[in-house]
Amino acid sequence: MLNVQDQLHRPLRDLRISVTDRCNFRCRYCMPAEIFGPDYAFLPSDKILSFEEIERLVKIFVSLGVKKVRITGGEPLLRRDLPTLIERIQQIAGVEDIALTTNGTLLKKYAQDLARAGLSRVSVSLDSLDEQRFSEMNGQRGKVATVLEGIEKAAEAGLPVKINMVVQKGKNEQDIAEMARFFKEKQHILRFIEYMDVGNSNGWRLDDVVPKKDILAQVQQFSPLNATKPNYTGEVASRYQYEDGQGEIGVISSVTESFCSTCSRARISAEGTLYTCLFATTGVNLRELLRSGADDAIITEQLASVWQKRTDRYSDERNEQTMQKRKNAKIEMSHIGG
Ligand code: GTP
Ligand code: 5AD
Ligand code: SF4
Ligand code: SF4
Repeated sequence: MLNVQDQLHRPLRDLRISVTDRCNFRCRYCMPAEIFGPDYAFLPSDKILSFEEIERLVKIFVSLGVKKVRITGGEPLLRRDLPTLIERIQQIAGVEDIALTTNGTLLKKYAQDLARAGLSRVSVSLDSLDEQRFSEMNGQRGKVATVLEGIEKAAEAGLPVKINMVVQKGKNEQDIAEMARFFKEKQHILRFIEYMDVGNSNGWRLDDVVPKKDILAQVQQFSPLNATKPNYTGEVASRYQYEDGQGEIGVISSVTESFCSTCSRARISAEGTLYTCLFATTGVNLRELLRSGADDAIITEQLASVWQKRTDRYSDERNEQTMQKRKNAKIEMSHIGG
């Protein structure tokens, strides 16, 4: 095994693979309906990596240090036969963990098959327990009740479940404590995610972010928390245990406390482009490489070289800029005041 490192000495440990660019939701912060409308050109099937291609890539990535694989989308359960892909990945020696990020609407149907295929766990996105607010956030495409049913089925199938809630000011801030209470009782780990400026279509503004400290304050009012150690180096969420010992929450604060220095994640889009950062503007076309007849040795070498050149630290850079702006603002104010 090669165990490659990038320019900032970060290893390559996680591979996140998108298996489709389609989704049955239209969350405003991700795929707003005005842009992803009936005429939107989603990828044709020949432009999407096949299961064989994905399997081949996972094997190569494992040889470079990857241990965790996460299947994402769009909505990954819209991809036909997804359990078959899980089964194939599960058989690759060196893969220690296979997780799935889903909106939960199709979990009721697939949870058993996914567990049987060897999926390790699921992360279900749910932004509110209030039907009206949830509907508003997902573009009127789905019900809280359906997602909760999916979560139940996944738990029944023996899959550990985490819940991801993107917190947006003025949208679902009021749901923080209620979500915490509900999932504490259900004994699922809820993770609050600071709304990020990912993609080009969500019109992100710093003012729309509810910072980690405000999220924690709201949860603390309901039930006191203690910070606890990460499960592993590079864990994206910071962990907090309830003081009464009944469960934990996580906060993913890429806006106010970024975590690029330990980022070991590579991402492959549905069309087979490799990105070394969530905020990358360019990537490497692996689909062409795979379909060019290149052998594994050549592909391995190219992937290693991409990682070894990597310098990405977008969230850290944005934070530094924000801090700088604040500092400048202070100088101006004291100037006026003084
Ligand atoms: P665990 O393996 O359970 O710790 O999950 P994870 O944090 O690796 O994966 P998950 O997909 O559940 O991440 C939750 C959310 O965190 C994502 O939907 C993103 O919003 C955010 N996130 C994950 N990875 C990154 C990253 O590398 N950079 C930034 N800025 N945000 C990330
Ligand atoms: N900011 C934070 N999280 C986001 N997600 C999608 N877009 C954003 C954003 N702009 C999250 C979803 C889900 C996962 C797929 O990514 O809520 O949990
Ligand atoms: Fe995006 Fe997930 Fe919402 Fe679909 S469910 S629009 S992939 S955030
Ligand atoms: Fe990793 Fe890029 Fe996210 Fe930083 S911004 S943690 S480098 S994906």
